[in-house]
Amino acid sequence: MKLYIDSANVEKITRINEYYPLAGVTTNPTILATEGRPYLETLKNIRSIIGMDKELFVQVLGDKAEEMVDEGKYIVDAISGKVVVKVPVTEEGLKAIRMLSAENIPVLATTIYTGMQALLAAMSGAKYVAPYVNRIDNLPGDGLRVVSNIVHMFLQYDLGCEVLAASFKNVQQVYDAALAGAQAVTVSPDIIEKFVAFPSTKVDVSEFRQKWTAAFGKDHSNLG
Ligand code: E4P
Repeated sequence: MKLYIDSANVEKITRINEYYPLAGVTTNPTILATEGRPYLETLKNIRSIIGMDKELFVQVLGDKAEEMVDEGKYIVDAISGKVVVKVPVTEEGLKAIRMLSAENIPVLATTIYTGMQALLAAMSGAKYVAPYVNRIDNLPGDGLRVVSNIVHMFLQYDLGCEVLAASFKNVQQVYDAALAGAQAVTVSPDIIEKFVAFPSTKVDVSEFRQKWTAAFGKDHSNLG
């Protein structure tokens, strides 16, 4: 399972990248706009934090397939390292996914609400599909069921496309996506920090330290 951070905030990315096994960073137009900085500058800053080998995802905004392809190529040229172009699954988006993939530019098919959208995106050459778990739940629908159906379909048809589940609002949704077999998840920094913020773990650690200190004194290390 691969873990991505869904953010363009350089401070948060720096912190999460230090502690967690990140595979890369996903952004979207809203996330980049929130930072209030020129977007290329932000993306280059992110690249310098995560290094060349981790994937950086950037979404295109064009209406027509040709515009999306031009934007995708521009982004790949402008940012060094591994870049994945995010393309929304519309009719034009499907065409753009096919065109970009034909040029070996990796694509994540985004804004996915149904298994059918995911299937078509994978058949068009997408490397990843991103079902929007929480946004599907809010329709209301069943985001996790969509994730699980897509995982099952991709295995059945041996499509070689990975499910990168997105749009989470709590830790349980992320855990359920992992149990459903999603190959990857992208999660906001606030939720990632909750992954290990478990009160009982803190209590246990503090109890172990107290016992040690009572027996051996203030030196907390056991290195001799
Ligand atoms: C990631 O690819 C998506 O843009 C993102 O996860 C959407 O999340 P949201 O529903 O919290 O905006």
